[in-house]
Amino acid sequence: MNTPTRQRRTRAAAPAGPDARGTELELEVGPVAHGGHCVARHEGRVVFVRHALPGERVVARVTEGAEGAKFWRADAVRVLQADEARVEPPCPVARPGLCGGCDFQHATPAKQRELKASVVAEQFHRLADLDLDVTVEEVPHERADGLRWRTRTQFAVDAEGRTGLRKHRSHEVVPLADCPISTEPVVGSGVLEARFGNVETVEVAAGSDGAAPLVVVTPDGDRHAHLPKLPDASVAVRTADGLHRVSGRTWVGERITVGGRDHAFRVGGAGFWQVHPAAPAVLGETVLAALQVQPGESALDLYSGVGLFTALLADAVGQDGSVLAVEGDERAVRDARKSLHEQRHVELWAGAVEEALADDELTGRRTDVVVLDPPRTGAGRTVVAGIAALAPRAIAYVACDPAALARDTAFLAGHGYVLDGLRAFDLFPHTHHVECVATFVRG
Ligand SMILES: C[S@@+](CC[C@H](N)C(=O)[O-])C[C@H]1O[C@@H](n2cnc3c(N)ncnc32)[C@H](O)[C@@H]1O
Repeated sequence: MNTPTRQRRTRAAAPAGPDARGTELELEVGPVAHGGHCVARHEGRVVFVRHALPGERVVARVTEGAEGAKFWRADAVRVLQADEARVEPPCPVARPGLCGGCDFQHATPAKQRELKASVVAEQFHRLADLDLDVTVEEVPHERADGLRWRTRTQFAVDAEGRTGLRKHRSHEVVPLADCPISTEPVVGSGVLEARFGNVETVEVAAGSDGAAPLVVVTPDGDRHAHLPKLPDASVAVRTADGLHRVSGRTWVGERITVGGRDHAFRVGGAGFWQVHPAAPAVLGETVLAALQVQPGESALDLYSGVGLFTALLADAVGQDGSVLAVEGDERAVRDARKSLHEQRHVELWAGAVEEALADDELTGRRTDVVVLDPPRTGAGRTVVAGIAALAPRAIAYVACDPAALARDTAFLAGHGYVLDGLRAFDLFPHTHHVECVATFVRG
């Protein structure tokens, strides 16, 4: 007798032909993969399934499945056998075919961290040839349900001027009445009730200094943006020639306490700042603990933004030490200058990290420790080689993409730097994102 396959079509009329989109498949869901989906197989073909959990049996509707495609994408639309960690998504639009902002709302926060730990471990296994026992740590927050943490949210605007978020892998905007992962000040800014005209994106940033959130509007092309009244927010318009104030401040104020010391930062426009309120202190403390920075040492902070790690390193090395920070966004460097102007032992360079690492002024100096916090693409081969050439005694790598981190770990190994520690934090609950801090020393 043939063993009946569990992966069979449930709709007799499902198209077998060129385009599988819309076809419903019954699938046995396999392991989680990087990107917010799980892996299943249908007749030998890989199907990436969203809204599912490993081990579940689901009916999934194919969302991408062109003829000859190596793999398909699908959304689990019915759950036949649920994992015990499955929950009702707290947001009404965190469902198949609706908002693409969150990936894991259908799992308990603990299960989400387990999924992310698997992904981090898998990336290190695949790309760095390292088998690691990874734990993704919960970070301090007033809520255990993983909601109301996002202090920065970029909303898209639909043809009717309503704000929302885009569908997964689509330009289509799902208008929102609320975004439960965004903080109260972000959703309370008024942008979700307002109507915009000729606007592409509306970014809201709420600082920790308690001031009104900043709304930065980007017009759609060269057209003149029509703005609603937002009495509970500061408003600015971003065009190709810069940021233009409409009302209130054009920057956001941030305050953190690390190691008993208070630090204040200014973040212009909707410039980069860690989005989870716990992130600056958690990452700052982790980096300092990883590097064990000593007074008098020379530190290098690459991709330094408005100077979060620069300020902490400046404290740790003291007046007898030095910190050099390199950041590509000139506005962020200007902000860092405002926050750090009293720190005479701190130098801020505006420019590409790649160029700074090739500059004789840097290569000729002593560098004891390096912090790098690159964008999602990671540092890459050239930057890794440049850092290794400085021969620091320790490197702390802050990474928002575990794949890029694992790839760069392999590059670092090629230069004799071994992974000495890895911590992973759930700084983006309900999404598939995870933040890691990896420490490297010379092997
Ligand atoms: C993930 S953010 C980190 C910022 C900062 N470390 C923090 O935690 O607030 C990455 C930063 O790298 C900057 N950046 C991106 N590519 C760069 C490059 N090639 N050279 C210099 N800076 C770059 C971005 O402008 C951004 O400020």
